[in-house]
Amino acid sequence: MSQYDKFAKEYIAMRSNMFKKNMNAEFPMMLQLLGNIKGKKLLDLGCGFGDYAKVYSEKGTIVTAVDNSKKEIEHAQKLNIPNTKFMVFDITNKFPFKDSSFDVITSSLVFDHLEDLKSLFQECNRVLKNKGVMVFSVTNPVFYQEKSIVGKIKIFGKKIIFGNYFERRKIVRKWGGTATMEHYHKPLEDYFSAFLENGFELLSFREPQPKTKKITWHCKNPTFLVFKLKKR
Ligand SMILES: C[S@@+](CC[C@H](N)C(=O)[O-])C[C@H]1O[C@@H](n2cnc3c(N)ncnc32)[C@H](O)[C@@H]1O
Repeated sequence: MSQYDKFAKEYIAMRSNMFKKNMNAEFPMMLQLLGNIKGKKLLDLGCGFGDYAKVYSEKGTIVTAVDNSKKEIEHAQKLNIPNTKFMVFDITNKFPFKDSSFDVITSSLVFDHLEDLKSLFQECNRVLKNKGVMVFSVTNPVFYQEKSIVGKIKIFGKKIIFGNYFERRKIVRKWGGTATMEHYHKPLEDYFSAFLENGFELLSFREPQPKTKKITWHCKNPTFLVFKLKKR
């Protein structure tokens, strides 16, 4: 069972009600970097409950959207989104698609859950058409250092508690009442090495800010990172 299956209902409710930092920052930047996707064949990796796939479909794409959470896919399928096929699939496996099947690959906030990025980018490269593009976002790894406080230091007279940014590790956090959420902390250089060494070039790298005047953590700090790549 996928970890999101354990709290799919709460997750869907939370994503619909919370201060929509994703919809205000991460997703607008994804769309900006994707540009005109009308008529393109698009693969959405870790599509969740299908809200982004709905927007891609409205923009005239033919969408294949996969996620390893059966419950989220069931929810997504009920939306009856035109030109969109949802599949339960674990993206750490070999993709069930032929070479050069897609013009565009997208993925929002999924790769921070994965330990190995090398085989993932190899598969993405294989199923993308020549010069196809890939736009993906991750949560900034600088902010995933919980439970690993290794020391304190004074910087400009202020005490700073710090973790170990460089240590690759699984982080398990409590989520909601009883569930847990797992991530694999990886330094930022791991993302760059994984795509640069597996057939991609970097076209753009952005740190989106929410489009709101509210002064919150997310407006002042780079919570999200968004990459645009091209198949070499
Ligand atoms: C933070 S949510 C993002 C969902 C969606 N992309 C969005 O932005 O609304 C992460 C998603 O990645 C999916 N996921 C995590 N590991 C996965 C894997 N190995 N294969 C497929 N999906 C995975 C989860 O089930 C979850 O739906």
